[in-house]
Amino acid sequence: MTLSSIVNLIFMKSNIKSILKIIFFGLITILIIIQFLPIGKNHTNPPVMKEPQWDTPQTRATFIRACADCHSNETKWPWYSNIAPVSWLIQDHVDEGREHLNISEWGMRKYHEDDAVKEVEKGAMPLEGYLFLHSEAKLTQQEKEEFIQGLKATFGSEEEETEHTESEIEE
Ligand code: HEC
Repeated sequence: MTLSSIVNLIFMKSNIKSILKIIFFGLITILIIIQFLPIGKNHTNPPVMKEPQWDTPQTRATFIRACADCHSNETKWPWYSNIAPVSWLIQDHVDEGREHLNISEWGMRKYHEDDAVKEVEKGAMPLEGYLFLHSEAKLTQQEKEEFIQGLKATFGSEEEETEHTESEIEE
């Protein structure tokens, strides 16, 4: 029996309503099954070892507000972080984020902290999907500018060097 003959059979014997019903319950079943997969469940917050030397408490406060859920060991795991498939995405962001920059394990590994200024300037960080669900992490223009100054003072910045080379290439 070919696929098209199966499809024909379904369409002959049932109306659109019952096909939609099958799709709906199929999706529900899949959603239930994926909750049991051992993925996206490692919601651990390892101990805080050492933090960077912040230039001001304000820079730290903004970082905690906008970045720390993915770049520290003090992640606030929301209720929906327990529900697949959203949980897979969130777990991935936190694992990757901590790998690239973790303010709770400062000096224990090499990070890309001097990219932080660039990421905030071009609006790449915080991640857009995160901002959608965390309006408190949105920075006003003024807050953003102050934060960039704070990040420069705390982490340094590769930005000036890069801009220099880019303008040289353009010429
Ligand atoms: C929702 C999670 C999330 C939030 C919130 C978040 N980040 Fe990230 N960040 C990531 C992930 C995932 C990566 C690694 C993948 C990538 O570079 O896109 C990353 C990478 C980085 C890197 C390394 C880039 C490189 O060149 O390797 C820096 C620096 C950074 N983030 C800074 C920040 C700053 C500053 C904030 C707050 C304004 C922030 N992030 C907020 C998830 C996040």
